[in-house]
Amino acid sequence: MVIEENASLKYHNSFGINATAAYLSAATSQRELIDALDFADSRQIPVCILGEGTNVLFTRDYPGLVVRMAMAGIELDHDSATVKAAAGENWHRLVETCMSNKLYGIENLALIPGTAGAAPVQNIGAYGIELAAYVDRVEVLNAATGRQQVIDAADCEFAYRDSLFKQANGSSLLITAVHLQLSRDWQPNTSYGALSNALKGREPRPQELYDAVCSIRQSKLPDPKQVGNAGSFFKNPMVSEWKVEQLRASYPDIVSFDAGEPGFRKLPAAWLLDQLGWKGRHRGTAAVSGEHALVLINPGQATGEDVYLLAQEMSSNVLDEFGIALQPEVRII
Ligand code: EPU
Repeated sequence: MVIEENASLKYHNSFGINATAAYLSAATSQRELIDALDFADSRQIPVCILGEGTNVLFTRDYPGLVVRMAMAGIELDHDSATVKAAAGENWHRLVETCMSNKLYGIENLALIPGTAGAAPVQNIGAYGIELAAYVDRVEVLNAATGRQQVIDAADCEFAYRDSLFKQANGSSLLITAVHLQLSRDWQPNTSYGALSNALKGREPRPQELYDAVCSIRQSKLPDPKQVGNAGSFFKNPMVSEWKVEQLRASYPDIVSFDAGEPGFRKLPAAWLLDQLGWKGRHRGTAAVSGEHALVLINPGQATGEDVYLLAQEMSSNVLDEFGIALQPEVRII
C-alpha cells in the first residue's frame, strides 16, 4: 500500500477543489483498506473514505488520511439476474455492463458519476428510479471492529438520498461490494415526464431508454470532466401540501411532486432557486450553473470555501423568501 504525504485532492473530487490531504492512499483490496485504517489508527488521525469524490466538497485541507476505494471486479449471474460489483467500480460502467449482458433495471441511472460502492450511501436516484429498489445486500468492513459484515437491503435504511451509511450509527460501515438484484425481463420505467417526452410516449428498447437518459442528463447537467461540479448541491425539500397551496397564491406555476408520504409534496429546489435568480450567479471564485440552478460549479480556480459560502447564501435566501430550509445533498468536509 502506497501512502502519499501532503497530496493534492484536485483530481480526486469532481468539484476540482485543490485541497490537500495530509495522507492519501488507494485501497485496491480489503487487505489494503485494513492496512490504511491501521495506519490512521497508529497516528490517531481521522479517515475520510472517497469513491471518485463526485459528491463531496472539501472546504479546507484534510488533516487525516483520505482513502480512495479502488477495489475492482464485476460478477454477473445471468440465471439469478444478480450482479456483484466491487466498491471501486465506476457506476456508469456497471450500468453498461449489466445492460449489455441483458440484465435490466438500472438503465435510468446511467451516467451518474461516481463508484458502485458510493451509490448506496446516498441512494442514488434519477429519472423515476432509486437504487434502493435494486440492492439485495452490501458487503462492508466495519472499521470499528475490523470485521466483514453483510447488510441486507432491508437494514440499509434507504430513503431519499439517504441510508444507514450516512447516519452516525452506520459511519463505521465501509462498503466494499454491492449486490444487485436485476431482471432478465425488460420493463422500461418511463414515468419521469422529461423521459416519456423524449421517447414521445413510445415503449423503448433498452438501448433507446439508455440513450434518452444519457442525452437528457447531458443536456441538463454539466459534465464534471468539463466543469467542476457535484450534481445537485441540495436535496429537494419535502413540504406540507398546505405550504404548497400557500406558495401557489404568489406562484401560480409552482411545480411539486409526490413525496411518497400523505400530506406532503416534494418541491424542486432548482425551481425555488431559479425564482430567486440564482442561475448563472457568481460569488468569489464559485458560481451557479447557467443551465441548472441546483448545480454549483467551479468555473476554474474555485476554493471549497467559496463554494460553501455561495451555497450558504443560496439556502439563506430560500429560507428568507420561502420559509423552506434546504439541506445539502453533497457531503461537506
Ligand atoms: N428547474 C427549474 N430551474 C432549473 C432547473 C430545473 O425551475 O434551473 C425545474 C424544472 O423545470 C423541473 C424541476 O425543477 O420542473 C426539476 O428539475 P430536474 O428535472 O432537473 O430535476 P431535479 O429535481 O433538479 C433531481 C435529482 C437529480 C436527478 C434528476 C432527474 C435531487 C436533489 N436531484 O433533480 O439528481 O438527476 O432529479 O431525476 O433529487 C443528484 O442527485 O446529484 C442529481 C443530479
